[in-house]
Order: sequence, then C-alpha cells, then structure tokens
Amino acid sequence: MAIRTIRTMGDEILEKKCRTVEEMTARTKDLIDDMFETMYEAGGVGLAAPQVGILKRIVVIDTDGTPYVLINPEIIETSGTQTGQEGCLSLPGKYGIVTRPNYVKVRAYDENMNLYELEGTELLARAICHECEHLDGILYVEHIEGELMDVEPEVEEE
Ligand code: NI
Repeated sequence: MAIRTIRTMGDEILEKKCRTVEEMTARTKDLIDDMFETMYEAGGVGLAAPQVGILKRIVVIDTDGTPYVLINPEIIETSGTQTGQEGCLSLPGKYGIVTRPNYVKVRAYDENMNLYELEGTELLARAICHECEHLDGILYVEHIEGELMDVEPEVEEE
C-alpha cells in the first residue's frame, strides 16, 4: 500500500467525469487499498478516485469505523435534509455550510464486484453525496451557503 498525492482544487482532473469500472483488476485493488490509506492518513472520512488522479468511478468512505467501497455508485433514494459544515481533502483547511439529504440509499459494487446497497443517515449520507459528486467533477463549493471559510487553528490547552 502507498499514500498517494491528493489533488487540490484548481487541478482540472477534479472537474472531469469519471469512467465506469468494468472489472476488478489487481491494479484497481491496489488503488482501493491506497485510497483507504491516503484517506486515513489525511484524517478524512471519504475519498474519491479522481482526488488521487484516477478517473474511475470508485469511492471509499469510513465515517464510523466501518470502511465502505463504492464502485459505480448510483444514489437511488434520498429523503429529508441536513444543513451543516462540510469539508474536502481537496480543499485543505476550508469548510462551508452545505445542505444535503439526511438519508441516502446508494447502490454500488464492492471490491469483489458484488452489487450491494448501502443506507446512511447524517454524516454517512453527507459523505455518500459528496463523494459520488466527485465522480462527476463536482466539488462541494458549488453548493455552499455563504462563504467558504477557514478552519480555525486548534487552540492548545494550557
Ligand atoms: Ni471531497
């Protein structure tokens, strides 16, 4: 496994539409392993393949200690709304207020190319929406209410 370089906003690869994954290969398995390692190392809860420069429809998410791989994901159901802070590893040190569905059901292939469905609420629902949009070249800045803000540096306790 290896840490890959995370592309940041302004890199045009983040604005491109990703290609469908047709089959699992050793190379794609390595990519998925690297995406998890890169996401965990950066302290994120989700990462999409274009963020490491690969235009394939692959997302990894881990919001609560359970890792999910979503290949060729399709959101098939949403309900409710949630409004809150959202960030992205491709915009380090920034966040914005974004409204998303509070419930999402997504259909995707796992790392063995088995079709499955995943349901999520709150942060997981937000992460699924955010990461799936990366596959169509969309960043959360397109949805923010108000200004893009700087994350305050953590104040050290005495
Ligand atoms: Ni992102």
